[in-house]
Amino acid sequence: MKSDHHGAATDEAFDLLGTMMVAARAAGLVALGLELGLYRVMAGRGPLTSIEVADKAGLHERWVREWLYAQSAAGVVSYAGDARFEVSDEVAALLADESSILYMGGNFTTLPNQLSLLPRLGEAFHTGLGLTFDERGPGSAEDGELLMGNWYRQVLVTTALPQLDGVSDRLREGAVVADVGCGSGIAILEMARAFPASTFHGYDVSVHALERAESRRAACGANNVTFHDVESDPLPREPTFDLVTTFDCLHDMTRPVDTVRAIRNAIVDDGVWFIVDIDCGPTFEQNLRRRRFATMLYSTSVYLCLSSAMSEPGGAGLGTCGLSEPVLRELVGEGGFSRFRRLDIEHLVNAFYDVRP
Ligand SMILES: C[S@@+](CC[C@H](N)C(=O)[O-])C[C@H]1O[C@@H](n2cnc3c(N)ncnc32)[C@H](O)[C@@H]1O
Repeated sequence: MKSDHHGAATDEAFDLLGTMMVAARAAGLVALGLELGLYRVMAGRGPLTSIEVADKAGLHERWVREWLYAQSAAGVVSYAGDARFEVSDEVAALLADESSILYMGGNFTTLPNQLSLLPRLGEAFHTGLGLTFDERGPGSAEDGELLMGNWYRQVLVTTALPQLDGVSDRLREGAVVADVGCGSGIAILEMARAFPASTFHGYDVSVHALERAESRRAACGANNVTFHDVESDPLPREPTFDLVTTFDCLHDMTRPVDTVRAIRNAIVDDGVWFIVDIDCGPTFEQNLRRRRFATMLYSTSVYLCLSSAMSEPGGAGLGTCGLSEPVLRELVGEGGFSRFRRLDIEHLVNAFYDVRP
């Protein structure tokens, strides 16, 4: 026992909650440090005083000094002694370069938006109804980009698509492609740029995401991409697409079965459906074996995925861990797809599947 005040609390329970409470506050300051560019100005520069850091970042020294104390105490920044602070190369690799595939910053900069949802999520526990992506505000589409954006830019076309037999060749020759749940369009625009002879259609329910996608499309001048609001302009009922992609979105849908059927109707008989979804096990017990990962996934689910999947009455409510490989296999099988193959693509969070009629 820590003291009489702790009653039945064990050291272990006290330490667990203490660690969490401290980490939450430190994580908020990581988000702030990223917003203010503090890791970037410190990276690769060795030990610096707070005056030097504030000067390089164009900020007020007294605030920067307190941030440096807090981040050094947390161990994110290293204290070099003599009132000097350093961002190690290891931390810089994860936080200082937004374009790096290793960049973890998006997990922090999205935190303030997620935490601001808590009062409305509390209501969902009473009503059962979660929030759609749009009900989370315009920032939801931008937040989503921070999580997989660099993978789409750097890995999708060069490494992932070649794993799908015959697909890159078909795209080079000229194929018709749908990205369902396209979000703000990073993935589809990457594919469209790499395969100019092909035609691409992005579908989503989020007006915010579609607006962002369209302005990104206009900015890069991609004439072979069209975005559709799936509510008013659904997938065609006749076989149209040679390739369909669904990236990290089936488990967010209120009616994934309907989407699987719509994709089956819209895909040609020798078409390919490339599915990316969360790499999780079919049971809670299995997921619990990777405890930190499970905490991340199930927590994200309450903030985002389950919330979206329960955003209409009778929502399927799959949530972040709702589509493990066996569940997905069954879902697509019932929807009329007979071939299902997991691909050998390494990723910390996602699993990859080649699915065919
Ligand atoms: C986690 S985001 C992923 C977005 C994008 N694929 C990516 O990886 O960045 C999930 C997306 O699914 C969309 N979505 C949810 N239900 C949908 C539905 N029934 N049809 C199409 N898109 C849907 C959401 O609006 C959101 O943009």
